[in-house]
Amino acid sequence: MKPTILRDQATTPDGRPLTLHEHDGAFTIRVGGVELMSSRQHHSEERLAELACAAIARRPRARVLVGGLGMGFTLRRCLACLAADARVVVAELVPAVVRWNREPAYGLAADSLADPRVDVVERDVVDVLRAEPRGFDAVILDVDNGAEGLVAAGNDRLYSARGLERLKAALRPGGVLAVWSTADDPAFVERMGRAGFSTAVERARVHAAGGPSVSLLVGRLEIR
Ligand SMILES: C[S@@+](CC[C@H](N)C(=O)[O-])C[C@H]1O[C@@H](n2cnc3c(N)ncnc32)[C@H](O)[C@@H]1O
Repeated sequence: MKPTILRDQATTPDGRPLTLHEHDGAFTIRVGGVELMSSRQHHSEERLAELACAAIARRPRARVLVGGLGMGFTLRRCLACLAADARVVVAELVPAVVRWNREPAYGLAADSLADPRVDVVERDVVDVLRAEPRGFDAVILDVDNGAEGLVAAGNDRLYSARGLERLKAALRPGGVLAVWSTADDPAFVERMGRAGFSTAVERARVHAAGGPSVSLLVGRLEIR
């Protein structure tokens, strides 16, 4: 049996270990031992990008915020969906994750990070949202395993009624919010609705050809 090798480890701002493992050519990122992301499963992360970009990709100079980087599957699909004049801001909380992606030997997202349309900021996505009112046509959140803080306790701020107001404020009219979640989350979707988003939930397989499903929670603002 092939071994699982610990390639690197970092610490989240809360002091939890974030680790990169390699097994038989595939990578996983774990937080406190819980799997956050595997390079073997990325269909739903890509579908999240497609759903977020569908309505806004043709806008001139479309601007998309992706939080966080993970292994860059969502980012890569955004870049494929968006035009040459678009910009994608990637907010990543843990600088080591950006370093892992830039490491050519790992074959993760070095190519996407080098795309001239991409700006990577090693910051909490909450800070980027605060700093950029009406800054984005779409905000894509795949920072935890659903609408509950996992990587950082502070991430709960994203999913509360107040957090949704902040997300709404960072979006332009007709903007889209897309959130990855392992499970359906009717309470969060209802909060999205109360915050003024029209909502839709799509179930997506973890592999293009099958596997378990996750939920992609999408909210859209009116164009005014
Ligand atoms: C599940 S992974 C993202 C997977 C990504 N969609 C992909 O396609 O590979 C979650 C990422 O979000 C980052 N993260 C967690 N909380 C964050 C925050 N508050 N701000 C920015 N990034 C955050 C984690 O460090 C991790 O890199």
